[in-house]
Amino acid sequence: MASPDVLARAITLRQEIERHNYAYYVLDQPTIPDAEYDRLFRELQALEADHPELLTPDSPTQRVGGKPLDGFAPVRHAAPMLSIRTETDTEASGALAFDARVRRELGLDESDPPIEYAAELKFDGLAINLRYEHGVLVQAATRGDGETGEDVTRNIRTVHAIPLRLNSESPPAVLEVRGEVFMRRDDFERYNERQRAVGKPTLVNPRNGAAGSLRQLDPRLAAQRPLSFFAYGLGEVRGWAQPVSHSATLDALAALGAPVCAERIIGSGAAALIAFHDDIAARRDSLPFDIDGVVYKVNRYEQQRELGFLTREPRWAVAHKYPAQEQLTTLLGIDIQVGRTGALTPVARLAPVFVGGVTVTNATLHNQDEIDRKDVRVGDTVIVRRAGDVIPEVVAVVAEKRPNPAPPRFNLLETYPVCPECGSHVVRLEGESAARCTGGLYCPAQRKQALLHFAGRRAMDIEGLGDKLVDQLVERGLVHTPADVYGLTLETLSGLERMAGKSAANLLAAIETSKATTLARFIFALGIRNVGETTAKDLARHFGSLDRLVAATETDLLAVCDVGPIVAQSIMQFFGEPHNLEVVAKLRAAGVHWPESTGLQQSAGILAGKTLVLTGSLPTLTRDAAKEKIEAAGGKVAGSVSKKTDYVVAGEEAGSKLAKARELGVPILDETGLLALLVSNNDAEQHTLDF
Ligand code: IVH
Repeated sequence: MASPDVLARAITLRQEIERHNYAYYVLDQPTIPDAEYDRLFRELQALEADHPELLTPDSPTQRVGGKPLDGFAPVRHAAPMLSIRTETDTEASGALAFDARVRRELGLDESDPPIEYAAELKFDGLAINLRYEHGVLVQAATRGDGETGEDVTRNIRTVHAIPLRLNSESPPAVLEVRGEVFMRRDDFERYNERQRAVGKPTLVNPRNGAAGSLRQLDPRLAAQRPLSFFAYGLGEVRGWAQPVSHSATLDALAALGAPVCAERIIGSGAAALIAFHDDIAARRDSLPFDIDGVVYKVNRYEQQRELGFLTREPRWAVAHKYPAQEQLTTLLGIDIQVGRTGALTPVARLAPVFVGGVTVTNATLHNQDEIDRKDVRVGDTVIVRRAGDVIPEVVAVVAEKRPNPAPPRFNLLETYPVCPECGSHVVRLEGESAARCTGGLYCPAQRKQALLHFAGRRAMDIEGLGDKLVDQLVERGLVHTPADVYGLTLETLSGLERMAGKSAANLLAAIETSKATTLARFIFALGIRNVGETTAKDLARHFGSLDRLVAATETDLLAVCDVGPIVAQSIMQFFGEPHNLEVVAKLRAAGVHWPESTGLQQSAGILAGKTLVLTGSLPTLTRDAAKEKIEAAGGKVAGSVSKKTDYVVAGEEAGSKLAKARELGVPILDETGLLALLVSNNDAEQHTLDF
């Protein structure tokens, strides 16, 4: 019999897990990281295994997923959506144990040939069943509890990667494609950046972004969150000559137009699985999306059928997880980092925690608004996320673990009325999310960051001009602006720490080499706010010469692909400052040079001479933004529809203008159509020049 302590623990665990299930599956607001949830779940499983008398039918260990959400029609799956067993063993042993089990269950011995496996990624999103009837997408459903899911067809239709019609002349009567809907990391970061910029709530992680998006009751909101999809299997199939193996099925699905991830292999025996596991582990950070592991599947359906199922899990598949990318830790304090542009970034000082494969002691808190929104306080237990090469961040607080009495809220401006680096006033301008030091280049922190950025590998690429040296150069007043770097001499350098003769000579040589650069690198190196490497390249390609960029008007700048009003403003502001122009002039005088070109043939733009009319509200663009884009491509926006109108761009609740357009036979575009037209403009421009 289980002791009262064990019984009490089991009850507590069940309640806690159910609470997290509700937060995760129903509210899409996880309260703890997956790794922590898994630990609780495994603890309960272990207790129940040791004390079978404790097992109750309603224990969370006895069910697969969450319950369907109100607001979406329930969908009974034609074939249940199963889950896969997770191998928690590390590295080789997981694959070996799986292979040994498969061979044993198939009754094979050493003399039999190795099993053919398919290995693929375990995408970290949301399982979806796409039902195609006679080639047409008729329904999309979430997994729900495996038997019954939610009908999310309207939201799924907004996912561009998912074909609404299969690419086949004689499609199957029924084909259910199963796979994962997820959000790419860059889409996630971009979405959060945009949300932060307008002070709106951010997504905790890409997986929640995907889940939350599909569960938006309003498909227009779903459409604003960019989602992706990869197919990994089948549900019900009728009237289709199904291939004989899993990998051949994925190939067939790809041929039908379903996105299938290219990162997959077919291999023999455990060795192939181990090699795949290790290869992907090494490249996990550089994948464009989150994965939480790899999946091994017996490739041949014949063998899959023989192996069959163990309650809710197939015996022919197993997931092998990687270290979690989210963990719990304690927030020890909040430090401040002063960036290149003077922004004061609150940085969480954390109790060291192993997350995403490294030990993390610091994580960004972004800004005061984010701290307020997440209500982060020193002493809290927080969820830290580190995925890819994105800097670690604090994504949420575990409210129930807050110390009692509750610690005070953190207020950046009260704690730091002056810059901790230079003592200048700290201000937060209207409409800005960041508090900034007003010291400008007087502030050593800003000067150091500006120099490090300037010398960076993707900027002027001055090898050897790193942290320690920049600290000394700035602190001793030897370098004030990047231009001063080109005035350094052997004499000044050899007086510095760690600058014995050879290093100083090497550094001078690197500085000399850096003088021959490209316009794109030079623009990036200047550190103009909101001008990253890609924008710098776009600007260089577009204008071809620095003088033309300096002289560009807002309209000129808006004509560059991906340059919006904020970026244009930052560029104008930068070149509007005499001291910046002075630094640029000094750099050129010191011999910094690059090949110039004539820039793009200032093509009149794809919409030159065209008149467009906007009506209704577009899903993502404001009316002003749409107008700006049209004008940047040379088009005109008119207020009313006539025979002379070339296109009507119609959004939600478009009224009489849309009716008039139909009447006159004027082509009608939705927002996607407009954007496609504008993209073709940018493509056309890019093709006019070899760069
Ligand atoms: S196969 C019967 N393959 O992992 C096997 N699942 O517990 C059905 N997942 O939520 C699943 N990537 O959505 C399979 N390459 C992959 C996967 C994958 C992610 C998810 C799936 C489900 C969970 C399986």
